[in-house]
Amino acid sequence: MADSFKIDFQAHGKVESGDLIVFVGENLKPSAVVAKQLGPKAVDLIAKAAAAEGFKGKTKSVMSIVVPTGLSVDRLIVIGLGGEKDRNDTDFVQLGGLIAGKVNGKLATVVLDLPEARVTPEMVADIALGVQLRRYSFDRYKTRKKDEDNGKGGGRLVFSVADPASIKKAYKTREGIQQGVIIARDLVNEPPNVLGPQEFAARAQALTKLGVEVEILDDKAMKKLGMGALLGVAQGSVRGGRVAIMRWNGGKANDKPIAFVGKGVVFDTGGISIKPGAGMEDMKGDMAGAACVVGLMHAVASRKAKANVVGAIGLVENMPDGNAQRPGDIVTTMSGQTIEIINTDAEGRLVLADVLWYVQDRFKPKFMIDLATLTGAIMVALAQEYAGLFSNNDELAERLTVAGKATGERVWRMPLGPEFDKMIESKFADMKNSAGRFGGSSTAAALLQRFVNDVPWAHLDIAGTAMGSPQNEINKGWASGWGVRLLDRLVHDHYEARNS
Ligand code: BES
Ligand code: MN
Ligand code: ZN
Repeated sequence: MADSFKIDFQAHGKVESGDLIVFVGENLKPSAVVAKQLGPKAVDLIAKAAAAEGFKGKTKSVMSIVVPTGLSVDRLIVIGLGGEKDRNDTDFVQLGGLIAGKVNGKLATVVLDLPEARVTPEMVADIALGVQLRRYSFDRYKTRKKDEDNGKGGGRLVFSVADPASIKKAYKTREGIQQGVIIARDLVNEPPNVLGPQEFAARAQALTKLGVEVEILDDKAMKKLGMGALLGVAQGSVRGGRVAIMRWNGGKANDKPIAFVGKGVVFDTGGISIKPGAGMEDMKGDMAGAACVVGLMHAVASRKAKANVVGAIGLVENMPDGNAQRPGDIVTTMSGQTIEIINTDAEGRLVLADVLWYVQDRFKPKFMIDLATLTGAIMVALAQEYAGLFSNNDELAERLTVAGKATGERVWRMPLGPEFDKMIESKFADMKNSAGRFGGSSTAAALLQRFVNDVPWAHLDIAGTAMGSPQNEINKGWASGWGVRLLDRLVHDHYEARNS
C-alpha cells in the first residue's frame, strides 16, 4: 500500500539533478566528502543561507535552498544533526522519515557522509527503512485520488554512499522488517467487513510463500480442543472463529521455540455489553496484536532468522446476537478452568486464555509474549507512547525494555501479583472476566497469567500504541504497525546473545 520510493545505493559522485540532501552539524559545515562534491561556492552558499534563515544546524531542523546558485540540482536540502551529544542518540529510522517528508520530486539524492561520525551500513539501512515507513498510506478504498497524490508513487531515492555493496546487504535484512510493519498496518487499517476471521487467517496462510508452516483451526477443531472461552466470544457472530498457527523453523531441530500470541478480534462491538456508538469504528483495529504477530513472522522468515519461532493468533468477531454469550454465562477453557462472564466486552482475555494455554501446552516454548489491544485502562495509565508490559519474568521484561529503547517502540512495566489475582475471584466459577474499573489493565493481565503455567511470559497491552497513536516521522497514518520492529529486535538479540 505504500507509495514507496525506489531506493538505490550508489558510490559518491557528482549529483546533477533533482533534490540533493546533505547533513551538517551545528558549525554548519558539511563533511569533507560532501564539501568536495558541492564545491566551495555551495558550501559558502549554505553558510549565507543559514544566516539569512536563522538555521543553526540543530538536530532535526531543515533548510531548503531552491535552485541553488552554482549547482544544477533543483533544491539543496540541508538537514541539521545538532551537536555531538545529539548525534550520539540520533534515531536513524526517524531521520529517514524526516527526509522522506521533505522530498517531493521524482528524484532525490541523499549524500550519506556525516560530519564527525562514521556511517555504518546499519545506519543507512535504518534511514532507508524510515523513508519507506513514512511513505506509507492506506488509500485502497479511495477511488478519487487527490491531485497532489499523482506522481507521488514511482519516485526514486538514491543514497550516495562510500560502499554500496555492504549497504545493499544490510538494507535487504531491513526490507523484511519494512514489509512486516506494512503488513501489520494494512491488516489493522482494513475495514471489518473485508477482514473477518476467515480472511485474516488467509492472510496468515500467505506466509507459506516464505517457508512458514501455517495451520488453521476452525470452530470444529477448536471445539474438539475444548477452547470454550474463545468459542464463547465467537458464537455471537455469523462469521466463525479461527486460530492460525505460524511456525518458522530456522533454528536447530530440537531447540524449543519462542512464541508470540496475538489478540485478533476483527471487530469488537462489546457484544451484549455493547459499547457506546461514538468511536466504535475504531474497534476494527482490535486485531492489532494478531496483525503484529503476522508482520513479525514475515520479518523473521524473510531474513531467514536462525531461530524457531511460533506465532499464534486468535481470530473472532465480538457481536451481539441471538446466540451471543451473556453476562452470567460460565465458560470452560481448554485448560479446564472456568470463567464467569461479567462483561461480554472483556472478550480479549477470553480469546487469549485459550490460545496461550494451547501454545504453552503444545510447544513448551522458551518464552511466550502476547500482544493485545486489551484495555482502555492502559491509556488512562500510560497514554499512547508506551505499551503496558506485564511479566512473570524479570529478565524477559528487561530484554523487552532494552529492545524498546533501541527501536523507539517503548514499553513500561506495570504490576502483576496476588493483589490483582484476588480481584478476579468469582462467586460461581474459578474466576471472572472483569473486576471493574480499578487496576483494569492489571486485573486483565492477572487473568492471562492463569493460562501460562510457569512459562516465562510477557503481555503487552497495545491498546494505546497500535492505532490512533501520536504521529511521528515514520507514522502518519492510523495504524502504526507497533511491535514488529520491537519484537524482531528481541528475536535477533536473543539468538545473537546465545550464539556468541
Ligand atoms: N478492545 C477493548 C479495549 C480497547 C479500548 C482497545 C479502546 C482499544 C481502544 C477491550 O476488548 C475492551 O472492551 N475492554 C474493556 C474491558 C472492561 C469491560 C473490563 C475496557 O477497556 O473498557
Ligand atoms: Mn471489548
Ligand atoms: Zn476488545
